[in-house]
Amino acid sequence: MRDPCTLVIFGSTGNLARIKLLPALYHLDLAGHLPAGLRVLGFGRRDWSDVRWREEVRGILAERLGERLDAEVLDRLLGRLHFVGGDIEDADSFSRLAERLRGDEAFPGNRIYYLAIAPGFYGETADRLAAAGLHTEDQGWSRLVVEKPFGYDLESAEILDEHLHRHFHEEQIYRIDHYLGKSTVQNVLVFRFANLLLEPLWNRNYIDHVQITHAEARGIGTRAGFYDGVGALRDMIQSHLLQMLTLVAMEPPPSLDAEALRDEKVKVLRSIRAIPRQAVHAHAFRAQYRSGQSEAGKLPGYLDEPGVDPHSATETYAALKLYVDNWRWRGVPFYLRTGKRLAATQSLIAIRFRHPPQQLFHDTPIEQLKPNWLLINIQPNECIRIELQVKQPGLEMRTRTERLDASTCMVGSEDIDAYEALILDVIEGDHSLFLRYDEVNWAWRIVDPILRLWATERDYIHTYPAGTWGPTEATRLFDKEEQDWRDGL
Ligand code: BG6
Repeated sequence: MRDPCTLVIFGSTGNLARIKLLPALYHLDLAGHLPAGLRVLGFGRRDWSDVRWREEVRGILAERLGERLDAEVLDRLLGRLHFVGGDIEDADSFSRLAERLRGDEAFPGNRIYYLAIAPGFYGETADRLAAAGLHTEDQGWSRLVVEKPFGYDLESAEILDEHLHRHFHEEQIYRIDHYLGKSTVQNVLVFRFANLLLEPLWNRNYIDHVQITHAEARGIGTRAGFYDGVGALRDMIQSHLLQMLTLVAMEPPPSLDAEALRDEKVKVLRSIRAIPRQAVHAHAFRAQYRSGQSEAGKLPGYLDEPGVDPHSATETYAALKLYVDNWRWRGVPFYLRTGKRLAATQSLIAIRFRHPPQQLFHDTPIEQLKPNWLLINIQPNECIRIELQVKQPGLEMRTRTERLDASTCMVGSEDIDAYEALILDVIEGDHSLFLRYDEVNWAWRIVDPILRLWATERDYIHTYPAGTWGPTEATRLFDKEEQDWRDGL
């Protein structure tokens, strides 16, 4: 049973709302998952009426969903939408918001405040909500949703957390990492903990190394305002990639209860070996895309993107080697990498197993046995595959790689992204897929020494041609010569 509630979106005319939140609300309405009384109140700097915003949203959804848009569902969703013009930096706007919320019975007293705004405004928006009395729970529950990045480094994250807690208690705060809403990411848990046959292999005795890749073919587009000065390590690795690592490396939790799950994730983060300043270059590599070529034509370099400082040393590619120092993983490298303007768009967890202890086939035409891989492809084309060696048919002793493919189990609606699941969880008050502050804090501790060193090295950054798999120099992170990046399935 989901309580009727009012979802207030700050930044309702911004990118996140247009690209992710509004389509997710449509999908939820289509699937019949939204409570009947749910209202969405957009807050933004336009002087719009409800009718005007509804027309905007109609246009946004028509553009994104095209012919798949169901007229009846669309009308139902538009009927839930309202708009309040205001500025997050202006206290009066919050008084108007409060009047609107309290003065109209159509708005249920349970409220979600979704901060789809620049992270630098989270603290003061919380202050203004509180000054207008909107943080209290006297008329129903009230929940605050904040997007990543949570802070800019360890210190700012601590300050922000303390700031939010001045007005909201922990139960009210939902820190989003949208990767946890992706179904294949959740499938890592099911795959690991619902299949006993994996457990004996899931450790340092059988796994050679783990790779987690998030590659994007697109560049930074119009996001220079956010991205320049932030960079790939903060934008992707501190959050999404470290979260994926925790799911691969964690111990089975005692239950799927939010605290139990998050306790296990924190244990992994705490076990990650700290990288001292003098070891940063052996563990981390950064680079920036220069101009390059794709099938579609010439691609601009990062420094030529609109709004980027022409002397920027912001990394658009980052790779990291981490060790999880516990009984299960001691000595197994976890290689994480992410980049913009790479050769393809793909998020992949690739787990490479060790070679068998004895090379039985050395007197046969099999020169070198290939290792087993387990591939969990997050996107696009969600799939789970295991690569095995089998004998080729025929008289000679030769092998080939065969794939056990569990992809078909994951064919679902291609429209469903991560936000549908996360919005429902906030409505239901389920924190399992949201970050507890100690997770955020430990994740910052891991990347902070790297960020601090890189911040002092502003004169030079490696580059890679746009449209390629990134800088070849990043292979220097590998522990063994036979290790290499797994580009694609
Ligand atoms: C966001 C980052 O958190 O995740 C973006 O800020 C990145 O830079 C995006 O492009 C990737 O998300 P997805 O769901 O498209 O893989």
